[in-house]
Amino acid sequence: KDLPTDKESAKKGGFRFYMEKEIYEQFDILKETILGRNTEDGIKFDEVDKSFFNGINNIIISACGTSYHAGLVGKYLIERNAKIRVDVEVASELRYRNPLLTKDTLFIVISQSGETADTLETLKMAKEAGLKTLALCNVDNSSIVRVADKTILLRAGIEKGVASTKAFATQVMTLWMLSNYLGDINEYEAINSAIEATKVDTALHEKIKRLSKRYLHGHGFFFIGRDIFFPLALEGALKLKEISYIHAEGYPAGEMKHGPIALADPELFVVALLSKNILYEKTKSNIEELVARDATVLTISSEFIEMTDDFVKIKNSNHPMIEFFEMMVITQLLALEVAVRMGNDVDMPRNLAKSVTVE
Ligand code: AGP
Repeated sequence: KDLPTDKESAKKGGFRFYMEKEIYEQFDILKETILGRNTEDGIKFDEVDKSFFNGINNIIISACGTSYHAGLVGKYLIERNAKIRVDVEVASELRYRNPLLTKDTLFIVISQSGETADTLETLKMAKEAGLKTLALCNVDNSSIVRVADKTILLRAGIEKGVASTKAFATQVMTLWMLSNYLGDINEYEAINSAIEATKVDTALHEKIKRLSKRYLHGHGFFFIGRDIFFPLALEGALKLKEISYIHAEGYPAGEMKHGPIALADPELFVVALLSKNILYEKTKSNIEELVARDATVLTISSEFIEMTDDFVKIKNSNHPMIEFFEMMVITQLLALEVAVRMGNDVDMPRNLAKSVTVE
């Protein structure tokens, strides 16, 4: 597919694709998402008073696709910051499993569109079972918003790219704020710093454009990470699959030796998300295991490691969520640039719809 003409590009703010524009927008959009919510005195949600959570002993998060990946990040954050157990469910599985739904459970649905059929049906199931329901959604007055007891709007603006970027960023940010709200903790500065980390460095973007040429003809990608970087690995793999049509899977870094490492060879591309702040040594040794078996590894980290085939540096920071948001942008740009080289329609990938309202 040819790159857009100037007129088309002008509609996209001078970017080649809406998805590219939306990746660059995340820096400003996230400021909207936290506006009036992330305060020096801690988190405030006008939409849902803290008393709404009285009597809650555990949480179920139900979502699909990218929103499910955001939910997985939310599990780590809410369990760590609020000490409340969280189960994250793929809505199309939860819907037909006749799950145990108890009234001390808060049921959270995450949806950019607010129209995803499976997610909506699980929300209705929870309502019928008498659970308190909360929606994290980007479209006010959508079906999901109309059914949920309470809604926290993502404020991501209209997302035109079928492959979700800024909506994912606002979902994770909202879950991070919710984990502070529920746990009565205050990560005001870290939240602001994490937003700064999403500002796209054009020199970095150019570097990703260049190195993407090496990743077009392998027999597949693994994205690996630990802790909150495992859901980010899942999301990075989904972005790449959706728009480049190259197979990719996200995997817990510690799981590679339980089978998948048999795939390691120079044509196996591994994107390793190496946090300095969480399980650095463990993840580093997983990278070494793969390199020793001749896999081609692209490491994203603040700490340079010699043996990796490609390296993309992130800023030093003392908080894993700041690393998370910077790595998120890099994985989004990597998927974009590989897809551009494949000549694909980045904004309208084949076989996909922006909202899956059918089952
Ligand atoms: C994201 O890149 C995908 N397009 C898709 O997985 C999406 O996240 C999923 O269909 C859920 O949509 P929703 O957030 O509107 O419910």
